[in-house]
Amino acid sequence: MNKTVIITGGGSGLGLALANHYSTNFNVCLIGRTESKLQQAIETLSQTENRVSYHVCDVADYEQVQSVLHTIFEKETVHLLINNAGTGIFEPLHLLSKDDIEQMIHTNVYGTIYPSKAVFPHFNKQGFGKVMNIISTAGLRGKVNESVYCATKFAVRGFTESLVKEWEGTGIFPTAVYMGGMDTPFWDETDHIKDRSRLKSPETVAKMIFDQDDNRPEIFIDR
Ligand SMILES: NC(=O)c1ccc[n+]([C@@H]2O[C@H](COP(=O)([O-])OP(=O)(O)OC[C@H]3O[C@@H](n4cnc5c(N)ncnc54)[C@H](OP(=O)(O)O)[C@@H]3O)[C@@H](O)[C@H]2O)c1
Repeated sequence: MNKTVIITGGGSGLGLALANHYSTNFNVCLIGRTESKLQQAIETLSQTENRVSYHVCDVADYEQVQSVLHTIFEKETVHLLINNAGTGIFEPLHLLSKDDIEQMIHTNVYGTIYPSKAVFPHFNKQGFGKVMNIISTAGLRGKVNESVYCATKFAVRGFTESLVKEWEGTGIFPTAVYMGGMDTPFWDETDHIKDRSRLKSPETVAKMIFDQDDNRPEIFIDR
Protein backbone atom coordinates (compact mmCIF):
# COMPACT_ATOMS: atom_id res chain seq x y z
CA MET A 1 0.00 0.00 0.00
CA ASN A 2 1.34 3.43 -0.95
CA LYS A 3 1.38 5.66 2.14
CA THR A 4 0.73 9.39 1.85
CA VAL A 5 1.87 12.27 4.04
CA ILE A 6 0.08 15.64 3.92
CA ILE A 7 2.36 18.57 4.83
CA THR A 8 0.84 22.02 5.41
CA GLY A 9 3.13 24.94 4.59
CA GLY A 10 5.04 22.51 2.37
CA GLY A 11 6.13 25.10 -0.19
CA SER A 12 9.15 26.37 1.74
CA GLY A 13 11.40 26.04 4.77
CA LEU A 14 10.88 23.12 7.14
CA GLY A 15 7.78 21.87 5.29
CA LEU A 16 9.73 21.47 2.06
CA ALA A 17 12.67 19.86 3.88
CA LEU A 18 10.27 17.38 5.54
CA ALA A 19 8.73 16.66 2.14
CA ASN A 20 12.18 15.84 0.85
CA HIS A 21 12.83 13.29 3.63
CA TYR A 22 9.37 11.74 3.68
CA SER A 23 9.27 11.39 -0.12
CA THR A 24 11.77 8.52 0.22
CA ASN A 25 8.94 6.25 1.42
CA PHE A 26 5.71 8.26 1.24
CA ASN A 27 3.65 9.89 -1.45
CA VAL A 28 3.72 13.57 -0.53
CA CYS A 29 0.85 16.02 -0.72
CA LEU A 30 1.77 19.66 -0.04
CA ILE A 31 -0.62 22.37 1.12
CA GLY A 32 -0.05 26.13 1.03
CA ARG A 33 -1.60 29.35 -0.19
CA THR A 34 0.88 30.33 -2.95
CA GLU A 35 0.61 28.12 -6.01
CA SER A 36 3.92 29.24 -7.58
CA LYS A 37 5.79 28.21 -4.41
CA LEU A 38 4.10 24.83 -4.35
CA GLN A 39 4.84 24.25 -8.03
CA GLN A 40 8.51 25.08 -7.47
CA ALA A 41 8.59 22.78 -4.45
CA ILE A 42 7.14 19.93 -6.53
CA GLU A 43 9.88 20.46 -9.12
CA THR A 44 12.62 20.16 -6.50
CA LEU A 45 10.99 16.91 -5.28
CA SER A 46 10.55 15.47 -8.76
CA GLN A 47 13.53 13.07 -8.45
CA THR A 48 11.64 10.90 -5.99
CA GLU A 49 10.03 7.57 -7.00
CA ASN A 50 6.93 8.46 -4.98
CA ARG A 51 4.10 10.70 -6.12
CA VAL A 52 4.20 14.38 -5.18
CA SER A 53 1.21 16.71 -5.51
CA TYR A 54 -0.13 19.92 -4.04
CA HIS A 55 -3.37 21.67 -3.12
CA VAL A 56 -3.78 25.43 -2.72
CA CYS A 57 -5.53 25.93 0.61
CA ASP A 58 -5.57 28.38 3.49
CA VAL A 59 -5.32 26.25 6.64
CA ALA A 60 -7.16 28.95 8.60
CA ASP A 61 -10.25 28.59 6.39
CA TYR A 62 -12.48 25.86 7.86
CA GLU A 63 -14.49 25.12 4.69
CA GLN A 64 -11.42 25.03 2.42
CA VAL A 65 -9.63 22.66 4.79
CA GLN A 66 -12.63 20.31 5.02
CA SER A 67 -13.04 20.26 1.25
CA VAL A 68 -9.35 19.84 0.31
CA LEU A 69 -8.68 17.12 2.87
CA HIS A 70 -11.82 15.23 1.80
CA THR A 71 -10.56 15.34 -1.81
CA ILE A 72 -7.15 14.02 -0.76
CA PHE A 73 -8.62 11.14 1.29
CA GLU A 74 -10.76 10.11 -1.72
CA LYS A 75 -7.57 9.46 -3.72
CA GLU A 76 -4.90 8.55 -1.18
CA THR A 77 -4.32 6.34 1.85
CA VAL A 78 -3.07 9.00 4.23
CA HIS A 79 -0.91 7.86 7.15
CA LEU A 80 0.38 11.18 8.40
CA LEU A 81 -0.70 14.83 8.59
CA ILE A 82 2.08 17.28 9.44
CA ASN A 83 0.66 20.61 10.63
CA ASN A 84 3.66 22.76 9.79
CA ALA A 85 2.17 25.98 8.31
CA GLY A 86 2.87 28.86 10.64
CA THR A 87 3.66 32.52 10.83
CA GLY A 88 5.34 34.87 13.30
CA ILE A 89 5.37 38.63 13.76
CA PHE A 90 7.93 39.62 16.36
CA GLU A 91 7.34 42.97 18.07
CA PRO A 92 6.50 44.22 21.56
CA LEU A 93 2.81 43.60 22.24
CA HIS A 94 1.88 47.30 22.03
CA LEU A 95 3.24 47.50 18.46
CA LEU A 96 1.30 44.52 17.13
CA SER A 97 -1.78 45.48 15.12
CA LYS A 98 -5.12 43.68 15.40
CA ASP A 99 -4.35 42.11 11.98
CA ASP A 100 -0.92 40.88 13.17
CA ILE A 101 -2.50 39.23 16.21
CA GLU A 102 -5.30 37.64 14.23
CA GLN A 103 -2.98 36.41 11.50
CA MET A 104 -0.83 34.51 14.02
CA ILE A 105 -3.80 33.09 15.91
CA HIS A 106 -5.66 32.11 12.75
CA THR A 107 -2.71 30.46 11.01
CA ASN A 108 -0.98 28.81 13.95
CA VAL A 109 -3.96 27.82 16.09
CA TYR A 110 -6.98 27.41 13.77
CA GLY A 111 -4.55 26.26 11.07
CA THR A 112 -3.57 23.31 13.26
CA ILE A 113 -6.98 22.56 14.79
CA TYR A 114 -8.97 22.57 11.51
CA PRO A 115 -6.82 20.04 9.60
CA SER A 116 -6.55 17.80 12.71
CA LYS A 117 -10.34 17.80 13.06
CA ALA A 118 -10.78 17.15 9.33
CA VAL A 119 -8.52 14.06 9.26
CA PHE A 120 -9.96 12.46 12.41
CA PRO A 121 -13.05 10.74 10.88
CA HIS A 122 -10.89 9.31 8.07
CA PHE A 123 -8.13 8.11 10.41
CA ASN A 124 -10.71 6.71 12.81
CA LYS A 125 -12.37 4.73 10.02
CA GLN A 126 -8.98 3.45 8.81
CA GLY A 127 -7.98 2.59 12.39
CA PHE A 128 -4.61 4.29 11.99
CA GLY A 129 -3.05 7.67 11.40
CA LYS A 130 -0.67 10.24 12.80
CA VAL A 131 -0.89 14.00 13.35
CA MET A 132 2.43 15.74 13.85
CA ASN A 133 2.23 19.35 15.06
CA ILE A 134 5.26 21.55 14.44
CA ILE A 135 5.45 23.81 17.50
CA SER A 136 8.68 25.56 18.59
CA THR A 137 10.58 26.16 21.79
CA ALA A 138 8.16 29.16 21.85
CA GLY A 139 5.61 26.55 22.99
CA LEU A 140 7.79 25.71 25.99
CA ARG A 141 8.59 29.15 27.45
CA GLY A 142 7.79 32.82 26.93
CA LYS A 143 10.19 35.08 25.00
CA VAL A 144 10.65 38.85 24.61
CA ASN A 145 8.79 40.32 21.61
CA GLU A 146 7.17 36.92 20.95
CA SER A 147 4.16 37.17 23.27
CA VAL A 148 1.42 36.38 20.77
CA TYR A 149 3.54 33.91 18.78
CA CYS A 150 4.31 32.09 22.07
CA ALA A 151 0.61 32.19 22.98
CA THR A 152 -0.25 30.44 19.72
CA LYS A 153 2.46 27.80 20.19
CA PHE A 154 1.43 27.17 23.83
CA ALA A 155 -2.10 26.70 22.48
CA VAL A 156 -0.93 24.08 19.99
CA ARG A 157 1.02 22.35 22.75
CA GLY A 158 -2.13 22.10 24.91
CA PHE A 159 -4.13 20.95 21.90
CA THR A 160 -1.63 18.22 21.05
CA GLU A 161 -1.20 16.99 24.64
CA SER A 162 -4.98 16.74 24.93
CA LEU A 163 -5.33 14.75 21.70
CA VAL A 164 -2.67 12.31 22.93
CA LYS A 165 -5.05 11.50 25.81
CA GLU A 166 -8.32 11.81 23.86
CA TRP A 167 -7.22 9.51 21.01
CA GLU A 168 -5.58 6.85 23.18
CA GLY A 169 -6.52 3.39 21.91
CA THR A 170 -7.79 4.64 18.53
CA GLY A 171 -4.60 3.86 16.62
CA ILE A 172 -4.15 7.58 15.92
CA PHE A 173 -0.95 9.08 17.28
CA PRO A 174 -0.46 12.85 17.81
CA THR A 175 3.08 14.20 18.19
CA ALA A 176 4.25 17.63 19.33
CA VAL A 177 7.57 18.78 17.87
CA TYR A 178 9.71 21.42 19.59
CA MET A 179 12.63 23.11 17.87
CA GLY A 180 14.61 26.35 18.16
CA GLY A 181 15.49 28.70 15.31
CA MET A 182 15.95 27.44 11.76
CA ASP A 183 17.30 29.37 8.81
CA THR A 184 14.15 29.57 6.65
CA PRO A 185 12.13 32.26 4.82
CA PHE A 186 10.28 32.67 8.15
CA TRP A 187 12.90 35.32 9.04
CA ASP A 188 12.99 37.14 5.66
CA GLU A 189 10.80 40.08 6.71
CA THR A 190 12.21 40.73 10.19
CA ASP A 191 15.47 41.52 11.98
CA HIS A 192 14.34 39.71 15.13
CA ILE A 193 17.16 37.20 14.57
CA LYS A 194 20.42 39.10 14.19
CA ASP A 195 22.65 36.28 12.92
CA ARG A 196 20.81 33.65 10.88
CA SER A 197 24.03 31.76 10.17
CA ARG A 198 23.89 30.41 13.76
CA LEU A 199 20.54 28.71 13.16
CA LYS A 200 20.08 25.06 12.21
CA SER A 201 19.21 24.35 8.60
CA PRO A 202 15.66 23.09 7.96
CA GLU A 203 17.19 19.99 6.33
CA THR A 204 19.04 19.09 9.56
CA VAL A 205 15.87 19.53 11.63
CA ALA A 206 13.73 17.61 9.11
CA LYS A 207 16.13 14.65 9.27
CA MET A 208 16.04 14.68 13.08
CA ILE A 209 12.23 14.68 13.02
CA PHE A 210 12.08 11.94 10.38
CA ASP A 211 14.50 9.75 12.38
CA GLN A 212 12.42 10.11 15.58
CA ASP A 213 8.99 9.69 13.99
CA ASP A 214 7.94 6.51 15.83
CA ASN A 215 4.53 7.41 17.39
CA ARG A 216 6.11 9.09 20.43
CA PRO A 217 3.97 11.98 21.79
CA GLU A 218 6.82 14.51 21.79
CA ILE A 219 9.95 15.13 19.74
CA PHE A 220 12.44 17.58 21.23
CA ILE A 221 14.96 18.93 18.72
CA ASP A 222 15.82 21.73 21.17
CA ARG A 223 14.55 22.52 24.68
N1 LIG B 1 12.11 29.17 11.30
C1 LIG B 1 12.21 29.02 12.61
O1 LIG B 1 13.16 29.52 13.26
C2 LIG B 1 11.18 28.23 13.37
C3 LIG B 1 11.50 27.78 14.67
C4 LIG B 1 10.59 27.01 15.37
C5 LIG B 1 9.38 26.68 14.78
N2 LIG B 1 9.08 27.13 13.53
C6 LIG B 1 7.80 26.74 12.94
O2 LIG B 1 8.08 25.93 11.82
C7 LIG B 1 6.97 25.99 10.90
C8 LIG B 1 7.50 26.19 9.50
O3 LIG B 1 8.08 27.47 9.40
P1 LIG B 1 9.34 27.78 8.48
O4 LIG B 1 10.41 28.23 9.36
O5 LIG B 1 9.59 26.66 7.52
O6 LIG B 1 8.80 29.09 7.71
P2 LIG B 1 8.32 29.35 6.22
O7 LIG B 1 9.35 28.98 5.24
O8 LIG B 1 7.80 30.73 6.23
O9 LIG B 1 7.12 28.31 6.04
C9 LIG B 1 5.81 28.53 6.44
C10 LIG B 1 4.91 27.99 5.35
O10 LIG B 1 3.55 28.07 5.80
C11 LIG B 1 2.74 28.48 4.71
N3 LIG B 1 1.58 29.16 5.25
C12 LIG B 1 1.55 30.28 6.02
N4 LIG B 1 0.29 30.60 6.31
C13 LIG B 1 -0.49 29.65 5.73
C14 LIG B 1 -1.90 29.44 5.67
N5 LIG B 1 -2.75 30.28 6.27
N6 LIG B 1 -2.36 28.36 4.97
C15 LIG B 1 -1.50 27.52 4.37
N7 LIG B 1 -0.16 27.66 4.40
C16 LIG B 1 0.31 28.72 5.06
C17 LIG B 1 3.64 29.43 3.90
O11 LIG B 1 3.27 29.43 2.53
P3 LIG B 1 2.18 30.46 1.93
O12 LIG B 1 2.48 31.81 2.54
O13 LIG B 1 2.39 30.40 0.47
O14 LIG B 1 0.85 29.91 2.32
C18 LIG B 1 5.01 28.79 4.06
O15 LIG B 1 5.29 27.89 3.00
C19 LIG B 1 6.06 27.10 11.45
O16 LIG B 1 4.99 26.52 12.15
C20 LIG B 1 6.94 27.87 12.42
O17 LIG B 1 6.20 28.49 13.44
C21 LIG B 1 9.96 27.88 12.81
